Amino acid sequence: MKAIRYHRYGPTDVMALEEVPVPRPGAREVLVKVHAAALNPVDCEIRKGRLSFLLWRFPRIPGSDFSGEVVAVGSKVRGFHPGDLVYGMSPAFQGGAYAEYVCVRRDRLAFKPATLGFGEAAGIPLAALTALQSLRDLADLQRGQKVFIHGASGGVGMFAVQLAHAMGAHVTASSSARNLDFIRSLGADVCLDYAITDIAALPERFDVFFDVYGNHSFGRVHHLLTPTGTHVTTIPTIKNIGRHFLRPFAVQKSKMVAVQSRRDDLDHLRILCDKGLLRTITDRIFPLAQAVEAQEFLETRRARGKVVLEVIPS
Ligand SMILES: NC(=O)c1ccc[n+]([C@@H]2O[C@H](COP(=O)([O-])OP(=O)(O)OC[C@H]3O[C@@H](n4cnc5c(N)ncnc54)[C@H](OP(=O)(O)O)[C@@H]3O)[C@@H](O)[C@H]2O)c1
Repeated sequence: MKAIRYHRYGPTDVMALEEVPVPRPGAREVLVKVHAAALNPVDCEIRKGRLSFLLWRFPRIPGSDFSGEVVAVGSKVRGFHPGDLVYGMSPAFQGGAYAEYVCVRRDRLAFKPATLGFGEAAGIPLAALTALQSLRDLADLQRGQKVFIHGASGGVGMFAVQLAHAMGAHVTASSSARNLDFIRSLGADVCLDYAITDIAALPERFDVFFDVYGNHSFGRVHHLLTPTGTHVTTIPTIKNIGRHFLRPFAVQKSKMVAVQSRRDDLDHLRILCDKGLLRTITDRIFPLAQAVEAQEFLETRRARGKVVLEVIPS
């Protein structure tokens, strides 16, 4: 099969399209013929070697998010059969999605939303799971509560606004000026341009502050939280990890999300998509062979919604 691989950490041009063997599914794994894969910033972080203390085996096939068709299942897999259309998330440390075939554990994929194409479906898992697990599990966001979502127009932010809106929260969201109409269309009640708004000086108080972009730490915005409010960050700095674990009994919580690939949550997202309550916007689609260009675009941090690799042209 064709796959994007790299044999050392480095800039985007360490990645190349190579001919490699099709992986064989283990007893609890499913082999998927990939139609589309989606990019996430963690793909670039791993390629640059930022997680090299955890990941040192080469060659690596990058990519977590995929959609496609089941072609084989392991002997202990129930519920999936060849021909099923699926989407899912391979853990970032495992990767494998920038390829014509990927093997994943049976509990890390689900049936694809029927209303979405493969490219759209591939854009959902990692970013939408992050948004869901942050707002529902870490922040316990409730109907009627006020949430601030900072960095609302990228992959995670786009889903966070829609999920918070669907959960019945009052959503204040920030983006650059060019994306204000976009985040309003996703369900944000109040839309702020972060370039001209001093977010830390806002008079409102929020039950949840979700710092998706990662430059509004708990220390910077804790005074914007209600007395029992929760701050959630996506950025795994030592300080943020420390706060996550060292403040379990504090009334104001500071949490750091570490996204988990879970079939139940993927099923939940599929149902929301098929009911028309969740949509995904793809900024750009690249062919698999142009993974270098795709990652370079993602790294501009200007993508609106998702960046997708088309493995089988639709
Ligand atoms: N811990 C975890 O489990 C986990 C999981 C998923 C993601 N993450 C992390 O979460 C972050 C966001 O991920 P993503 O997929 O949403 O990234 P992304 O899609 O690349 O984000 C792009 C967005 O960032 C916005 N942006 C750029 N500069 C900004 C600024 N100064 N202030 C606020 N927003 C700005 C842009 O909006 P404008 O063009 O409107 O400025 C753009 O829409 C990344 O650092 C990622 O690594 C962590």
